[in-house]
Amino acid sequence: MATLSTLILAAGKGTRMRSSQAKVMHPIADKPMLQHVIETARELTPIRLAVVSGQGAEQVVPLAESLDAEIVMQTEQLGTGHAVMQAMTLIEASDQLLVLYGDVPLTQAATLQSLVDCGDAESLRILTFILDDPTGYGRIVRNDAGDVTCITEQKDADVATLAINEVNSGIMVLPCGWLQSALSKLSNQNAQGEYYLTDLVALAVAEGVAIATVCCADDVQVAGVNNRQQLANLEREYQKRQAVALMAQGVTLLDPMRFDVRGSVEVGEDITIDVNVILAGKVVIGDNVKIGANCVITDAVIGAGTEILPNCVLEDCRIGANTNIGPFARIRPGTVLANEAKIGNFVETKNANIGLGSKVNHLSYIGDTDMGAGVNIGAGTITCNYDGANKHRTTIGDNAFIGSDSQLIAPVTVGEGATVAAGTTLRKDAPADALTLTKSDQRSLTGWKRPVKQVKMKQDQK
Ligand code: UD1
Ligand code: CA
Repeated sequence: MATLSTLILAAGKGTRMRSSQAKVMHPIADKPMLQHVIETARELTPIRLAVVSGQGAEQVVPLAESLDAEIVMQTEQLGTGHAVMQAMTLIEASDQLLVLYGDVPLTQAATLQSLVDCGDAESLRILTFILDDPTGYGRIVRNDAGDVTCITEQKDADVATLAINEVNSGIMVLPCGWLQSALSKLSNQNAQGEYYLTDLVALAVAEGVAIATVCCADDVQVAGVNNRQQLANLEREYQKRQAVALMAQGVTLLDPMRFDVRGSVEVGEDITIDVNVILAGKVVIGDNVKIGANCVITDAVIGAGTEILPNCVLEDCRIGANTNIGPFARIRPGTVLANEAKIGNFVETKNANIGLGSKVNHLSYIGDTDMGAGVNIGAGTITCNYDGANKHRTTIGDNAFIGSDSQLIAPVTVGEGATVAAGTTLRKDAPADALTLTKSDQRSLTGWKRPVKQVKMKQDQK
């Protein structure tokens, strides 16, 4: 078997996107389209994987290099055939070349493999599909015997050709021994003045190169993105597929159309996810977890039996089993919540270890803190972790009780079993098992008068 090389065309500007960003950098599920294509191509373990870059190279090249792709520059974009010409120095005559487009992001590796396998190494293989509305795509023209004779681009097609529903996905496998000489015969005498890769098909027919096709029944895998509407359509299709896959693994989604995954998710069983939840980065969710509406969860591990109430934002954190979070909580990076802990509404945590069964129920900021087990943090408690220049840690021992509206000025330690009175501003450590208070004793003043509002007279009333 001839070795497989892969070339991804990604040099075009994508004028119809009306964007300063290269088209192939636009994301599906928060990942550039080009990255989807490169990752899928890798699954076929090609001997060589190169990206043709031109427009937007300052973004495209770093991405491609970060994914270990070789770069071929096409400084002037004179068409898809011209793009392939730029790569010929990389390619051996004994290779077969799989050509992919950076703007066709959702093809699956199995589909590509079936295309590679549909003809021998000397044949030209085309991935086609059927569309009710084929507008914009190159049409697959066949003779009466059903053999492919050429591909005609939309702009060069007559009325009869425009009516053809079988279209070119752009994805082809080309035999490289023949390709070198064939490319030199391409002309740009067409409606767009470009060197079309698709003109290779008529050349192959003329030169007796066998042509094989695979017709892909799944439009989404071969759909190209040329404008923002097509981008949005593919985003929805991609999300629908992820939702279906998660439901198959035992997740209840109250509305699969209002659920987005922008990364990878690992799930246990009997998870329930309410509407408008976004999971991003790498998220791992244990059995029986419930996630309320409008939560955004990024790079998190969530233990079994935990319930996250609506409108919470979690990022880069580890949540134990059977915890309770929200509604309206913000769990920031470096938060580690032990089992059975509880974070209530309008609470923000960052770089904090919160121990077994500890509770921070209302309106608090807990940052740079090590909190033991069984701690109760009263409403409005703030760890003052930043002195304007440096961050300092707060340590709170097991079973401590912090009264409402207290400020713990770090670095500071609250001992085990300590009680800090409501409204305390703690500047020194609070000893274990004692009551610490910093405000003066309560007094009452008799004869004190509440201020009254001054009545202002208008000028003309004077
Ligand atoms: C192309 C095909 C068409 C097919 C459709 C499928 C040709 C001539 N036409 O049309 O038959 O139905 O894709 O989506 O091939 N590119 C370069 N350098 C260039 C021009 C393009 O790298 O000089 C890249 C683009 O970045 C893009 C891909 O090639 O990723 C396709 O280019 P585009 O202009 O979108 O071609 P279509 O008009 O969609
Ligand atoms: Ca296109």
